Amino acid sequence: MSPFGCWGLPVALLALLCCPGSGEVFEVLMSSERLVVEPGMSWKINCSTNCTQPEKGGLETTLNKTLLVNQTQWKQYLVSSASQDTGVYCYFLCSGGQNSKSLNISVFHPPEQVLLTLQPTRVVLGTSFTVECRAPAVAPLERLTLTLLRGKKTLHNKTFEKTMPDPQEAMAMYSATAHREDGHHNFYCKAELDLRSRGGHIISYVSEPRELEVYEPMQNNQMVIIITVVSVLLFLFVTSILLCFVFGQHWHRHRTGNYRVQGAAACFRA
Ligand SMILES: *[C@@H]1O[C@H](CO)[C@@H](O)[C@H](O)[C@H]1NC(C)=O
Ligand SMILES: *[C@@H]1O[C@H](CO)[C@@H](O)[C@H](O)[C@H]1NC(C)=O
Ligand SMILES: *[C@@H]1O[C@H](CO)[C@@H](O)[C@H](O)[C@H]1NC(C)=O
Ligand SMILES: *[C@@H]1O[C@H](CO)[C@@H](O)[C@H](O)[C@H]1NC(C)=O
Ligand SMILES: *[C@@H]1O[C@H](CO)[C@@H](O)[C@H](O)[C@H]1NC(C)=O
Ligand SMILES: *[C@@H]1O[C@H](CO)[C@@H](O)[C@H](O)[C@H]1NC(C)=O
Repeated sequence: MSPFGCWGLPVALLALLCCPGSGEVFEVLMSSERLVVEPGMSWKINCSTNCTQPEKGGLETTLNKTLLVNQTQWKQYLVSSASQDTGVYCYFLCSGGQNSKSLNISVFHPPEQVLLTLQPTRVVLGTSFTVECRAPAVAPLERLTLTLLRGKKTLHNKTFEKTMPDPQEAMAMYSATAHREDGHHNFYCKAELDLRSRGGHIISYVSEPRELEVYEPMQNNQMVIIITVVSVLLFLFVTSILLCFVFGQHWHRHRTGNYRVQGAAACFRA
């Protein structure tokens, strides 16, 4: 069943009641403060006619309504509790004739949460990384654009088609190889819901910024080589000093030992 199907029956009944040609020619006008509404929102709808003495008239809707102004040619209602797209209509009966006007009301869920993730957050220059953006529970999805940005530069745009009943999660992904530039700017995701075609305006939300850490493997290797070489040289230097010292001591002892032996021999001989 189409979301606007629920007032098909009353319209058919009214069509049966309506006897074209009978009574005075009159007009019914309907105006709604809003055509796109957020769940839980309340707004005003006017119904009016130029019939001078309508027998009956008002607003037909499945939504909650309160009559604010009750005049013979003009009625104003406060309407609320729309949770899905719906049709509303105004009708008037006038000298046996019947006339009505309808409007479709769309329910929207703004992309209040825009979540950006970088995978990985630390990347070697020249290897790939992924930017992913999610906006849970958005409606109408076909009015949404997700834009992935690096600084002010647009990396990727994505628009959507309605495949399942709203609201739905929207997701956009972008993969690239890491350049030095990528480490110098923040990444963002912008979610825009364009309701201009339904009498609204553009609602836009931006994610928290995310940073990508790009590092160069060459420099790291060079550092490792330098540290290794310096360590080896230091080790050789220390070892040679120790060896010199040990051998020096040994030689010295050896020589003094000889003298003593010679000295002792000389003593015995004496
Ligand atoms: C109401 O408006 C319609 C269209 O403008 C016009 O044809 C009709 O004569 C009007 N009826 C009255 C009662 O003023
Ligand atoms: C309803 O009609 C009144 C009186 O003409 C006007 O002040 C008000 O702005 C109208 N509201 C809507 C939603 O059209
Ligand atoms: C609106 O006013 C008419 C008379 O002008 C009355 O018959 C009708 O009951 C009123 N409607 C409501 C909901 O108060
Ligand atoms: C609609 O109005 C009725 C009566 O005033 C109330 O009990 C109900 O909670 C309202 N529904 C919503 C969804 O606000
Ligand atoms: C309302 O929606 C229905 C079904 O989608 C469509 O047939 C109809 O033309 C729409 N009415 C208006 C006034 O936009
Ligand atoms: C993304 O969309 C914006 C606004 O709609 C447009 O200005 C821009 O050129 C688009 N960028 C790409 C890469 O499609």
